Amino acid sequence: MSFQMARRAERMNPSIIREILKVTEKPGIVSLAGGLPSPDTFPVEAMRAAAEHVLRENPREALQYAASEGYAPLREWVAAQLAGQGLRVDADQVLITTGSQQGLDLVGKVLIDPGSRVAVERPTYLGALQAFAPYEPEIVSVECDDDGPRPEALEAARGARFLYLLPNFQNPSGRCMSAARRAQVSDAARALGLPIVEDNPYGDLWFDSEPPPPLTARWSEGSVYLGSFSKVLAPGLRLGYLVAPPALYPKLLQAKQAADLHSPGFNQRVVHEVIREGFLRDHVPTIRARYKAQRDAMRAALERHMPAGCRWTVPVGGMFFWIELPAGVDALALLPRAVERGVAFVPGAAFYADHPLPNTLRLSFVTVPPAQIEQGIALLAQTLKEAA
Ligand SMILES: Cc1ncc(COP(=O)(O)O)c(C=O)c1O
Repeated sequence: MSFQMARRAERMNPSIIREILKVTEKPGIVSLAGGLPSPDTFPVEAMRAAAEHVLRENPREALQYAASEGYAPLREWVAAQLAGQGLRVDADQVLITTGSQQGLDLVGKVLIDPGSRVAVERPTYLGALQAFAPYEPEIVSVECDDDGPRPEALEAARGARFLYLLPNFQNPSGRCMSAARRAQVSDAARALGLPIVEDNPYGDLWFDSEPPPPLTARWSEGSVYLGSFSKVLAPGLRLGYLVAPPALYPKLLQAKQAADLHSPGFNQRVVHEVIREGFLRDHVPTIRARYKAQRDAMRAALERHMPAGCRWTVPVGGMFFWIELPAGVDALALLPRAVERGVAFVPGAAFYADHPLPNTLRLSFVTVPPAQIEQGIALLAQTLKEAA
């Protein structure tokens, strides 16, 4: 039987990262490829206690179908928490999603027509490109420097349905936009009438100082903000949220209803039970401290081992180093040789919507312990020197 595929299915691609992860699951490989949080940060005991509490106190409500908007106390918690970051929103503007990945899909479903333009950073999060692709956009990549999108380059995005931005510790580049750049980009987008979709799964994972307030705080009626519990609690919960202006919220809600009716009510109640008394105030700093030490281990290993001609900036939060190899080196071609030696990374080309830079790669510093980071970077450097 051969199935006639929909045009949108033709646009769907396997994630190169998931393909690479399959290879790196082999024993003995130091994988710096995955974007997975460290499982040692998952608050297992708190989750167990909260799950027991929910099942004891409200078992039937927790296991019943629930509101598409999300569990009201959790929506209120999100609104209060965002207010602390300078983003004042009403709880009615919060939609609980099945991971922020679903938020990206809903935004694509509601805002993209076939052939319409969507602007992204260069490079950008591969999962967003995957989420938008079935809606058949024409992707426009905005030129960036170490501080994010260059405001004058936004002209290329004129007429796009939205500009997708990752201001905090971007996946893959690790960069964090300064307050000045946020203001410039937000003002330029506003002048162009270009809505902003601001994705912020890593903002809490800062090492030395909190990142500046979200762009959405500057232009809330033109922005959609996405957040996630994946990096501060656990990704297996599949819980995130979006905040949308009242003019857009009802359509996103309808798209959500069609997609999955609602995100798991049980998980939402358990998460709320865990965080409602301020659990994250103590928990998130432990994640920051751990990731900062891992960042330092990778920085030291890179400085010690990498051959001349490689360039990176040291991330001040998040999970990734972004490495530029000498011109002419193709990271994709390098990968099988690196895996043979026992180390894996993600070639950077996957993160470009067009004109990929083949001499780039992404390294995660959070999933493997410092001793393995040292070993992995040494192996990567050997592979590079051998290929030179
Ligand atoms: C930039 C970015 N956005 C969204 C997601 C999706 O996160 P989740 O669906 O787990 O909230 C990720 C996951 O790694 C990410 O890196």
